Amino acid sequence: MRAPTGAADPLELVAERLQCPICGGPLRRDERRLLCGTGHAFDIARQGYANLIGGRRRHRGDDARMVAARERFLGAGHYRPVSAALAELAAGHAPAGDGIVVDLAGGTGHHLSIVLDACPDRHGLCLDASTAALRRAARAHPRAAAIGADVWAPLPVRSGAAGVVLSVFGPRGVAEIERILCPGGIVVVAAPLPGHLAELGRLVGGIGIDPRKPERLAASFRRFDRVALRRVDLRVALGHDDVHAVMAMGPSARHLTDDELARAIARLPDPVEVTVAVEVSVHRSRCADGQGRSTKTPHPR
Ligand SMILES: C[S@@+](CC[C@H](N)C(=O)[O-])C[C@H]1O[C@@H](n2cnc3c(N)ncnc32)[C@H](O)[C@@H]1O
Ligand SMILES: [Zn+2]
Repeated sequence: MRAPTGAADPLELVAERLQCPICGGPLRRDERRLLCGTGHAFDIARQGYANLIGGRRRHRGDDARMVAARERFLGAGHYRPVSAALAELAAGHAPAGDGIVVDLAGGTGHHLSIVLDACPDRHGLCLDASTAALRRAARAHPRAAAIGADVWAPLPVRSGAAGVVLSVFGPRGVAEIERILCPGGIVVVAAPLPGHLAELGRLVGGIGIDPRKPERLAASFRRFDRVALRRVDLRVALGHDDVHAVMAMGPSARHLTDDELARAIARLPDPVEVTVAVEVSVHRSRCADGQGRSTKTPHPR
């Protein structure tokens, strides 16, 4: 599968890599739906994404306000060095072949789009449970499709279809990553390190990162070969609007009222210097047949 030269529809281009969340059969696209051979049908939303969460929806992902805040913060470019590291490592370590790039819990598709620019022959797929995020991800890149999926359930992606899986600050299930990767496929993981946004955690009240997180992440990928490890360390100057966006897009949005957040931000210098400390690691699948065989226990965020 080569990259499209014209305005091909990204959902059509990745449809052959998807599978029905109900029966596991291959999917094809018609004008308004994705369909399997058994007759299960999934509507394609006006914005271009389709929801492949089979059965009852157990996770809704980020709400519209969190997604809007994430879009604002990422759009301001503060995490550009993180996206650049992801793109360089993905392009540098991806196996040969036409495996797609799957961004797991990919949110607005922001990082996926930068990775696809560095991988011009590949198509991309953003998976997320949030409708608000999918609406944006469907427009993030001409080679990227967006699909509603729950990362804690079997993924609606065919075994061995992915050359690269991205997992950026999001939940991930390692067994399913292993299953969807092609032989020699890679997963590129970005995760916060202790110290990440620490100044905001102290002042606004509590973004704590478990010091054993890097260790736990490495252990969860013990069935893979780690082929690269990089730290992205920066200091960024955030104005109050940026601080509001970064707080509103994360877990603290659920713990603070609007007034509490506004009062806490008003006490900060403007701009405030903040630490960004992120670990980006690349793990290569040892599976020769793309049929993941590891434990079924998903790895917590
Ligand atoms: C911290 S955000 C990261 C988004 C994106 N990777 C980025 O860095 O911009 C976590 C994402 O996980 C999604 N999410 C949470 N639980 C999920 C689940 N069970 N299945 C799929 N996505 C989920 C949220 O909707 C959100 O977009
Ligand atoms: Zn089906």
